Amino acid sequence: MMELQAFIGLLLPAGLLGKSKIDLKCLWRRSPLESPIFKATMSRSRFQNIISRLRFDDKITREERKRTDKFTAIRKIWSYFQDNLQICYTPGSNVTIDEQLLGFRGKCPFRQFMPKKPDKYGLEFWLCVDADSRYVFNAFPYIGRKPTEQRQTQIGAKVVLELLKPLYGSSRNVTN
Ligand SMILES: *[C@@H]1O[C@H](CO)[C@@H](O)[C@H](O)[C@H]1NC(C)=O
Repeated sequence: MMELQAFIGLLLPAGLLGKSKIDLKCLWRRSPLESPIFKATMSRSRFQNIISRLRFDDKITREERKRTDKFTAIRKIWSYFQDNLQICYTPGSNVTIDEQLLGFRGKCPFRQFMPKKPDKYGLEFWLCVDADSRYVFNAFPYIGRKPTEQRQTQIGAKVVLELLKPLYGSSRNVTN
């Protein structure tokens, strides 16, 4: 458990350093320009071993669940994450709804292609953000239509209502 916590602890500075998108290997380089924290915490091969095996669901039942939910592999942990976002912070009176393409070129059934965005390929997230501090208060990915679903209508309206659910009746101002 402690090792997994250390692993997650390393992902945070990797993200802050903007290195999670590039090659993680360079974080273990022997260079005065790299932070010593990575090498001091665990070996590069151990880190890569963990990252390649990390799962957040029961692999045995995943195929079954995937039929109705493309996000099923991380649905549960994402829901804990959402809860924590909301427990840890109270947004001010102005919140805003936004979307963001997180660059990603790996294999994923809901990867999007957006030619106008700098990254072009990625996972699109819808966000409810505190307009003042920019804290992300609620977020979920755009995963497209469920395999069993008819064509979707009024996606925008549904997304906004879903994102704002935790704030219903709280007299916030919403912009977009
Ligand atoms: C919310 O927006 C209104 C209108 O722009 C502004 O007057 C007010 O100061 C904002 N509130 C906060 C907490 O930022």
